[in-house]
Amino acid sequence: MNKKAFIFDLDGVIVDTAKYHFLAWQKIASQLGIEFTPEHNEKLKGVSRVRSLDIILELGNIDASQVEKDQWLKQKNEDYLSYLVNMDYSEILPGVMPVLEYLKEHNQGIALGSASKNARPILEKTGILRYFEVIIDGNDVSNAKPDPEVFLQAAQKLGIENAQSFVFEDSEAGIQAANIAGMTSIGIGDAQILHEANYIFRDFTFMDLHFIESLIKK
Ligand code: BG6
Ligand code: MG
Repeated sequence: MNKKAFIFDLDGVIVDTAKYHFLAWQKIASQLGIEFTPEHNEKLKGVSRVRSLDIILELGNIDASQVEKDQWLKQKNEDYLSYLVNMDYSEILPGVMPVLEYLKEHNQGIALGSASKNARPILEKTGILRYFEVIIDGNDVSNAKPDPEVFLQAAQKLGIENAQSFVFEDSEAGIQAANIAGMTSIGIGDAQILHEANYIFRDFTFMDLHFIESLIKK
């Protein structure tokens, strides 16, 4: 049987939570008098919460104590979670469900590979937890993307070779992580930002199921 690994990033790939992360970080940045634009935000996508704060502080040339950092990290997460309170199935990005259904029907390995520590509650709230045979998230890894650890763990847990693994990602760091892992990277989003990806689609509605079929048969 042709069982391949299909590893999905979460934020910005399955759900549109990237915008909530941005809003929550923007609040912290503006509190600290740091200008934080959508361009800056690209560097934060796929990156862990702790590393994200460091990037923002570097932007503003701010030295902070660990106590201050912990306070901002807590505030950021509380603010982020407040956007998720009413989250449900309707927040799944267009085109994602047909791909998940197709992969399930064809007995493929489906994994989540996310930097987020909030991944499980999001999968639960949106009702799609059952599609994932393996979940590797921010609670399981010690190295943030572009380190490939999250994807390597996912493929290993599925019992599938890296070369037989496909990664869906919306972040530069995530595409780099997939490439370093020796997996096929599939960028979801802006072709200029994700130019290092093996394939790029604006979003899942641009992805024909024949494309998925061709990956399974590869
Ligand atoms: C990634 C997001 O999926 O998870 C980042 O792209 C985010 O923006 C990171 O910082 C960590 O998420 P969380 O939910 O643990 O703060
Ligand atoms: Mg993402």
